[in-house]
Amino acid sequence: MSNGKGDHRSSPERSALHVAIIMDGSGRWATARGLSRSAGHHAGRAAVRRVVEAAPQCGIRVLTLFTFSSDNWRRPAPEVAELLRIFEAFFTMDAPAFLRRGIRVSAVGRRDRLPLSLREAIEKVEAASQPGRPLHVRLAIDYSGREAIVRAAHQLRQTQDASAEVFAHLLAEAEHAGEPVPDIDLLIRTGGEQRLSNCPLWEIAYAELLFTPALWPDFGAADLEAAVQEFQTRDRRFGRIPEVVHP
Ligand code: IPE
Ligand code: IPE
Ligand code: MG
Repeated sequence: MSNGKGDHRSSPERSALHVAIIMDGSGRWATARGLSRSAGHHAGRAAVRRVVEAAPQCGIRVLTLFTFSSDNWRRPAPEVAELLRIFEAFFTMDAPAFLRRGIRVSAVGRRDRLPLSLREAIEKVEAASQPGRPLHVRLAIDYSGREAIVRAAHQLRQTQDASAEVFAHLLAEAEHAGEPVPDIDLLIRTGGEQRLSNCPLWEIAYAELLFTPALWPDFGAADLEAAVQEFQTRDRRFGRIPEVVHP
């Protein structure tokens, strides 16, 4: 399947996908059950485990999970504190199990505003997480698509070569991502809203968008499979015209 040869950063195949998920709706899931929003975030952590487990059989090579946006610091302090504890639990308890199964786990986003214990937990997992594994799970924490672009643009001013490729490297640095990953092929947002909420903006230039009303804690392996199947039916033209099938 052709992907438009002009864009070397897109996945060359319809497998080895980079899927990103805006994991929204955990608060509403909890409220609808008379539970605290925190209970929704705990249920959301279980959904992360399910989706990571299902990713390899869906042909996913990179899974970017939008976990906490830089705008989410505006939430009440107790909710933010609980979220940070959940992220730490993910990196100390869930991630090591993923590492043992050959999955690479890392974080993208600002590190300087995270609690030291969370930063250390992230660094420990990343140190044990070699590149080249068949699945790379990236949690976007304290992430702002716009801020990452601004930081990378600032660095670009120091260079002679203002190519997209150079920019992608600067952006990866700005995102603390290590190295650039392929463009996002499919962006899923759960929770029913149809907006991007400052997610990775450069990386979604040619992403297929899929919005589902399912609330994040209800999202599971079957939903991920269905989303990827829907993606496979999309005609990605990258500016070209549809391919003509000659008899
Ligand atoms: C997404 O779920 C999780 C984070 C933003 C951290 P929400 O907490 O936004 O859930 P809703 O949208 O209020 O239901
Ligand atoms: C988007 O959810 C961010 C994450 C899922 C991390 P939000 O709940 O913060 O988005 P808005 O406020 O509805 O746009
Ligand atoms: Mg929300």
